[in-house]
Amino acid sequence: MSSRTLSAIEVITLLLQASVVSSFLQTTTYPLTVVDKFTIPRTFENIATRHHGHLIVTSVTSSTLYQVSPVEEDETVAIANIARRTRLLGIVELEQDVFYVVAVNASSQRYSWFKIHLEVANITSAQLLNGMCRLEPNNNSMLLIADYAAGNVVKLDVETGAYEVIIDETSMKPLATGLQVAINGIHVH
Ligand SMILES: *[C@@H]1O[C@H](CO)[C@@H](O)[C@H](O)[C@H]1NC(C)=O
Ligand SMILES: *[C@@H]1O[C@H](CO)[C@@H](O)[C@H](O)[C@H]1NC(C)=O
Ligand SMILES: *[C@@H]1O[C@H](CO)[C@@H](O)[C@H](O)[C@H]1NC(C)=O
Repeated sequence: MSSRTLSAIEVITLLLQASVVSSFLQTTTYPLTVVDKFTIPRTFENIATRHHGHLIVTSVTSSTLYQVSPVEEDETVAIANIARRTRLLGIVELEQDVFYVVAVNASSQRYSWFKIHLEVANITSAQLLNGMCRLEPNNNSMLLIADYAAGNVVKLDVETGAYEVIIDETSMKPLATGLQVAINGIHVH
């Protein structure tokens, strides 16, 4: 190391050289694969990586968080939508599956931080889950979820991750002909 103090322009040059070297190494050492292509949203802003390798991406043109799989065949899923906000910016995972996202409403310029708990359970027996509601008005842990392919209703305890099929009826199953969608929306009154 030279004892001479580097001028700002030399530091910038060194940084540029370092970044050229590192991007050169990255593009030549590792194969690049397109894992997904989007038309909407048109741009992405920030990215967080989940423990199983999926990416959670934010966009300043959308209030929806998307999960992108590193495997091209897997579908990208919209995993959360933040109401009354138009842009999502930074995203960070502070503990496993607990993400914090900065969201802004472009017209009011109000920034808010949202905590999003992404995973409580893998419902491995499920086919295609859709509608969801709470089981009881004052119970913050029990959910009902409609499986619109299996045509049944699953009860999920979000605290423990325990789940079971609690309604399995012919009237909720898809028909052999017509729309291949069975029970879909679900509400408890
Ligand atoms: C943004 O905030 C304004 C003022 O509170 C509100 O009228 C508007 O609906 C909000 N935008 C969205 C997309 O909800
Ligand atoms: C869900 O499955 C993934 C992949 O097998 C695993 O890493 C994760 O810990 C599971 N989550 C729960 C809550 O069981
Ligand atoms: C929610 O429902 C479950 C199952 O019925 C029960 O074990 C739990 O104590 C309930 N929680 C509250 C807050 O009522």
